Amino acid sequence: TPIAAVIPAAGRGVRLGPGAPKALRALNGTPMLIHAVRAMAASRAVSLVIVVAPPDGAAEVKSLLDAHALPERTDFLVVPGGETRQESVRLGLDALPPEYEIVLVHDAARPLVPVETVDAVIEAVREGAPAVVPALPLADTVKEVEPAAEADQPEPVVATPDRARLRAVQTPQGFDRGTLIRAHETVTDNVTDDASMVEQLGLRVVVVPGHAEAFKVTRPLDLVLAEAVLARRRL
Ligand code: CTP
Ligand code: MG
Repeated sequence: TPIAAVIPAAGRGVRLGPGAPKALRALNGTPMLIHAVRAMAASRAVSLVIVVAPPDGAAEVKSLLDAHALPERTDFLVVPGGETRQESVRLGLDALPPEYEIVLVHDAARPLVPVETVDAVIEAVREGAPAVVPALPLADTVKEVEPAAEADQPEPVVATPDRARLRAVQTPQGFDRGTLIRAHETVTDNVTDDASMVEQLGLRVVVVPGHAEAFKVTRPLDLVLAEAVLARRRL
């Protein structure tokens, strides 16, 4: 069955600081989005990539895709995104042709995910899981806090969840098409990933091993790390 990847790339990248929309910023001379598209197209199973562009940047994204060498076997669509990540993913799904029964959703902000991780997610969906997320154990201990009433006050700790049972979740997340579309039609809460919408439907979501290089470029230091990883790959 052919597989499509939806790449939400419509965010501004506020935490990265002033500049172009995050997905259009360069890593070692190539836009982050192009790295992310290549990471999806690297999997031979992926035959369509749907890029969800910044709302006023669809034309620019189209010409970027035309300007960079991308695999012959992969088709591309570009649609304008929305106000939230969730809305952007839904707009991408609206453009999904009916023959794609497995869908990946991958953040443009995770440009360096290795193809092994992409293929592991695909494999788990093929084996029957309605939703699959790549994830890693945590290095830090995590505390739940009671947000302080005033910004300059220390926050009281409420609990320390058992770290051994926690996972930091990455993308691409993989889905049975019908499941993901139903989740986006049904769940209206604010969520930060697609799998949590499937969890809210009461369906089974499973974890496969993620990869350190699938980290999300979020803050300025992440740009340093991403460029170092790219430089090392070229050795
Ligand atoms: N995204 C999107 N549409 C939005 C918001 C986010 O398509 N309205 C995408 C981003 O482009 C990114 C992915 O969702 O590829 C993950 O979001 P995040 O890392 O939070 O990126 P930004 O929202 O751009 O960054 P920030 O939250 O710092 O502004
Ligand atoms: Mg964001």
